[in-house]
Amino acid sequence: MTANHQINRPQPNPGVMDIEAYVPGKATAHPGIAKVYKLSSNESPFGASPQAIEAMRDVAGRMHLYPDGRATKLREAIAETHGLNVSNIVAFNGSGEALALLARIYLQPGAEAIITEHGFLTYKIYIQMTGATAVTVKEKDERADVDAILAAVTDRTRAIFIANPNNPTGTYLPFDEVRRLHAGLPRHVLLVLDAAYGEFVRRNDYEAGVELVAGNENVVMTRTFSKVHGLGGARIGWCYAPGHIVDAVERVRDPFNVTATAIEAGTAAMRDRAHVTMSVDHNIRWLEWLTEQLSQLGLRVTPSVGNFLLMHFPAGERSKGRHRADKADEYLLARGFILRRVTAYGFPNALRMTVGTEEANRGVVQALTEFLKD
Ligand SMILES: Cc1ncc(COP(=O)(O)O)c(C=O)c1O
Repeated sequence: MTANHQINRPQPNPGVMDIEAYVPGKATAHPGIAKVYKLSSNESPFGASPQAIEAMRDVAGRMHLYPDGRATKLREAIAETHGLNVSNIVAFNGSGEALALLARIYLQPGAEAIITEHGFLTYKIYIQMTGATAVTVKEKDERADVDAILAAVTDRTRAIFIANPNNPTGTYLPFDEVRRLHAGLPRHVLLVLDAAYGEFVRRNDYEAGVELVAGNENVVMTRTFSKVHGLGGARIGWCYAPGHIVDAVERVRDPFNVTATAIEAGTAAMRDRAHVTMSVDHNIRWLEWLTEQLSQLGLRVTPSVGNFLLMHFPAGERSKGRHRADKADEYLLARGFILRRVTAYGFPNALRMTVGTEEANRGVVQALTEFLKD
């Protein structure tokens, strides 16, 4: 026995304490602010479909019963809505659970998984948790660079995680680029296409991943109810995957990973297409308006197809530090607008803003107009 207390208690696996915990968006503004606009977590400005809320209420009296472990009703609603094969769909406690499980199933110490420079941060956590190495590849114009990714593939590469569209940049890879990426990968490398924001994209050259999953053994698409469906608090995600991957996932996931309330709310939300269309229409309109207005204020805006955008503040000389992102963040917080700092994503002088209600969007532009004036 050793006297060293450090080893007289349970020790996390090697690497766990090197992981930087994910920091969610702030939920509160300065104390005393009458009205707060939370634009920090890409949540829906409309909330969930009223039908989803009603369905959740209805199930409250049956909380003593375990949920259907296969979430059949929810998976059927997804399959019918998206025209998919129900047996290739798995439901999860948020798409984060899907991403983490895929990492645990396909990665191990000594393996490598590729992520991109400004990619969604939790991928790195999921990869490191398995003891594998996260290999970060440079982006080009704040967008995943297919050639750079392919050049980073080694004989240790086991997976690639890409958000398409990406958070926090809002940029996307057109389908022909995703196809080119897939075509260049060895068949044992898993390509994970995270389409958390897929519903918001109305571009002819975008495809969330269904086609690639359907025709290949090494592609998985993940989706979420947290964004367009306004159900972030309910924790519902799903993946579309080839049969052999579904088989592996089914062996290790928690048998009741999706709650009874989530199954009912998610099913109703998926079937309420009017709510989805209304949310996407609103987003398209205000994303364009915000991009235009913020650009006119002299801020560079990364072209986004998500329900958020990244605005870059003037650097150095021009503003003598007065108009830095951290100062803008403080200024906005003092007026009730909570945006997201993105330093951890490699953007120390930018803020990410979720497209909000008309009132919130106009309010942010007004506040930034004043902030940038002097
Ligand atoms: C790109 C991306 N993937 C996945 C998620 C996680 O979503 P969920 O709430 O389904 O776990 C988010 C949430 O912000 C995201 O931005």
